[in-house]
Amino acid sequence: MNKDVIYYPRKSVEKAVSAYETPFFLYEEKRLRENCRRFKNAFDKYFDDFWPLFAVKANPNPEILKIIIDEGFAMDASSEAEVWLCEKLGVGGMYTGNYTTAKTLAYAKDRDFILNLDDITNLEALEEIGVPETLSFRINPGVGNATMENNVFAGPDAKYGVPFEKAVSAYKKAKEMGVKKFGIHMMTGSNVPIDEKDYFALIVEKLFNIVAEVKKETGIEIEIMNIGGGFGVPYRPEENSLDMEELAQSVRVVFDEQCKKYDLKEPRLMAEPGRIIAADAGWLVGLVVVIKDSYKKFVGIDASANDMPRPSIYGAYHYVSVLKKIPGENETVSIVGSICENNDQFAKNRQLPKCEVGDIVLIHNSGGHAFSMGHNYNGKPRHAEYLIADNGEIRQIRRAETIEDLYKTVKL
Ligand SMILES: Cc1ncc(COP(=O)(O)O)c(C=O)c1O
Repeated sequence: MNKDVIYYPRKSVEKAVSAYETPFFLYEEKRLRENCRRFKNAFDKYFDDFWPLFAVKANPNPEILKIIIDEGFAMDASSEAEVWLCEKLGVGGMYTGNYTTAKTLAYAKDRDFILNLDDITNLEALEEIGVPETLSFRINPGVGNATMENNVFAGPDAKYGVPFEKAVSAYKKAKEMGVKKFGIHMMTGSNVPIDEKDYFALIVEKLFNIVAEVKKETGIEIEIMNIGGGFGVPYRPEENSLDMEELAQSVRVVFDEQCKKYDLKEPRLMAEPGRIIAADAGWLVGLVVVIKDSYKKFVGIDASANDMPRPSIYGAYHYVSVLKKIPGENETVSIVGSICENNDQFAKNRQLPKCEVGDIVLIHNSGGHAFSMGHNYNGKPRHAEYLIADNGEIRQIRRAETIEDLYKTVKL
């Protein structure tokens, strides 16, 4: 049993449930900070000038971002709204879009973000909006990896990145246009399987091949290497946690080998994790509202897929805890929400403690790519977010949407 997966702050959960209306997201500052430190320290140990970013899309709550910024992270933004939020919080970073308009690129360029272009054709937009001093390209190194097929972001089927055969032309053209400093970026998949320990080192090696080729053909020394996010997180109790130290060390080895092999000036290492920072620092907390004995047993809770759509979109597995005062027998049930879609099932056919109406159910690993993926299908307002601060106090960091919020943009 992986303790990282099954952990939850029971006392705080009980306190929050007795004080606030369910369902809600509950985040723990302590865990969030620990995750930031584990990640940053691992790379700091092997790289003098490591530059960590946090993928805003994983959790764009401003209070969460403030903590992560306080831990020394800048931001990876992917939309004008994410850039807007970062500007409010006084932080910049790198902008990685795909199929991005010139207007959006200009928005990010004007706000302390290094542009990371997804295609050589984006250079035309720079003619319109002005050429930045520093520019990066997202490269599709031809291979990708992820726990789920939908989260493979590189390889022939992926819509992202400059195919590596075109990389040299992209850098050459950018140099001709007046770019002075260059970065290279990859994001080959989200939640890369934890057991594939050498994966990042392998991809970094591929990137160095491109860095060397670019130098040979254009004279450009690439100065920033962003190895993306995608660091795997255990969702199941039988899965291991990623050993960040080991991973950072394996990247260090490749840096040393490749810089020597190609006589390169070492680029500054950058990474932009989301999930590994935020996922296990958050829980979706719901209450059992209906229990149905049908062809099988369904336990209906007051949260739905609109709150946390990962299971409904990807069939993603999330560990579930049922809080019982006295542990009793287990039974096989499915934990479901109230949306009119049959994929609104947080857990299918799971062995869980026998539930009663009024029991508290926790959906684990709901701190990253959870609330941020939520939606309003079926007219479901999204629910509140609370933070367990380091001093143990619990405070609301986002109010629940109201029905009126849902109709603010139409005339009635
Ligand atoms: C460009 C980019 N960077 C970083 C991330 C963060 O990935 P993860 O949360 O798996 O670390 C994503 C996730 O989709 C992404 O698209």
